[in-house]
Amino acid sequence: MLDQVEKILIDEEKLKARIQELGKQLTEDYRGKDLIVICILRGAILFTSDLVKEIKLPLSIDFMAVSSYGSSTKSSGVVRILKDLDEEIEGRHVLIVEDIVDTGLTLHYLKENLLSRKPASLKVCCCLDKPERRQAPVDVDYVGFNIPDEFVVGYGLDYAQKYRNLPFIGVLSREAYQ
Ligand code: IMP
Ligand code: MG
Repeated sequence: MLDQVEKILIDEEKLKARIQELGKQLTEDYRGKDLIVICILRGAILFTSDLVKEIKLPLSIDFMAVSSYGSSTKSSGVVRILKDLDEEIEGRHVLIVEDIVDTGLTLHYLKENLLSRKPASLKVCCCLDKPERRQAPVDVDYVGFNIPDEFVVGYGLDYAQKYRNLPFIGVLSREAYQ
């Protein structure tokens, strides 16, 4: 598995340090508010579980699953809800936690969908952002790292459902998907 990773883009130590900073910021921003963290399955599970440990506030966690990619490396632009929230979000402060914002199509759809349920506020925290590739206008409130336009795996991110368990973010070699 490791020989298909061309290089390590963000190692465990850097991830940890940045997540501590994000957690501190979120702790300040959401103090005294009814916070619900929405983990977008499956990619955001590792990021979410590390991030919530750094938010020193009472909060709840819910999950949503959407499909955007199938198993290719390019976005189809078609978004489907595969699993919806269990909790109501009306009047609550909602934080969407995503693994990566690429074209922005997934997030754009998700935000519109969740806004229609009338939350008190709706913000987004993503681990990675590829701003060069944006197709839909979407504000990301908290970003772990901006990265160049390369296909990355690890720390929750997959290629054809593999590599999610790597503890770092790496660039997949072209041979692995061609
Ligand atoms: P978007 O709709 O193009 O912004 O894509 C968002 C989703 O595509 C993410 O939640 C990921 O699941 C997936 N994705 C985008 N770029 C990558 C990548 O470099 N590696 C793995 N998955 C990616
Ligand atoms: Mg995803």
